[in-house]
Amino acid sequence: MLKNDLILRAARGEKTERTPVWLMRQAGRILPEYRAVRKSLSGFKELVETPELAAEVTIQPVDILGVDAAIIFSDILVIPEAMGLTYEMVEQKGPHFPKTVESSKDIDALKVADPVDLSYVFDAIKITKRELDGRVPLIGFAGAPWTIFSYMIEGGGSKTFSKARRLLYADAEMAERLLEMITESTIGYLKKQIEAGADMIQVFDSWAGVLPPEQYSQFSLKYISKICDAIDEVPVTVFAKGAWWALPDMADIDCRTVGLDWNMNPHSARKILNNKTLQGNLDPCALYGSNETIRHETEKMLNAFGDHPYIANLGHGVYPDTDPQKVKYFIECVKNLSAY
Ligand code: CP3
Repeated sequence: MLKNDLILRAARGEKTERTPVWLMRQAGRILPEYRAVRKSLSGFKELVETPELAAEVTIQPVDILGVDAAIIFSDILVIPEAMGLTYEMVEQKGPHFPKTVESSKDIDALKVADPVDLSYVFDAIKITKRELDGRVPLIGFAGAPWTIFSYMIEGGGSKTFSKARRLLYADAEMAERLLEMITESTIGYLKKQIEAGADMIQVFDSWAGVLPPEQYSQFSLKYISKICDAIDEVPVTVFAKGAWWALPDMADIDCRTVGLDWNMNPHSARKILNNKTLQGNLDPCALYGSNETIRHETEKMLNAFGDHPYIANLGHGVYPDTDPQKVKYFIECVKNLSAY
């Protein structure tokens, strides 16, 4: 039994006694307690692949920051790895794939992920659920197929994503073959996360904003929609960073919640998505401001989302150099200002 199920009720479209709040990328990144655990290990991957430690850093923000949900500590890149493309996490730089997908033959060499290869994630979920003991719900997650595809083609982050986008024009069929494989892998993976205990799911389309609207429908939203159709056990949130023009199409997708980034307008999103719960969308940079500024910006945000089912969050992941005290203050502000 969950003692605090505010976020699940809000996701289902119910009115809640106050607005639930959590932060994208709340586990890791900002907490000294996370860095202490991380320092004793060979690297990021060891932490992700050691269920007891992944569970520990998943729970840290619940204890320290007072958020209304935990999100399992892992990474979206475990899917390409389980498909046959290993990633490395380069200190201070980010993900790097020594081998990328360049040809159709490279896709032939990949497989649809076997959930058995991701059992460290399911074990971490089981341990986390046991240790949370119903304090707050646990969010499972995956990257959206387009975002995963981008990493598999580019081999890392990119300013233009021109290699990944080139393929959509040069060989759409090849692109679709890979996107299908990622989608199938992701569905199997998310189902197992739910079986292990995830109470809700978020799909991160971090690189949604680099596509033109028509291509976004064909090469991203179509696959997100397939994932949402396949997951009916728990509420699903879709967060497509930068894809404000896709909001009308999101109304027709079988997800419960739509995440907004800080470029999106809650008033217009509300009109377009009257059948959904909204999540977001404070500019992560607002947390560099004074407490007064944070309180003011939070109040503005809460007013903008109004009296509808809503989950407070930032408009993207919390930035690594944010002061945890400011994050804590933001969470307190949401709790105090939104209570009836
Ligand atoms: O949200 C959480 O707190 C749970 C853990 C989580 C991580 N990655 C841990 C992590 C989640 C949900 C992710 C998702 C993720 N990973 C996304 C989608 C969300 C987004 O921010 O748009 C993306 C694009 C990635 C890929 C990725 N992983 C990048 C670009 C980097 C390097 C930069 C950075 O710090 O985010 C990572 C590494 C990573 N993933 C770290 C953490 C805590 C930092 C590495 C470390 O501790 O050594």
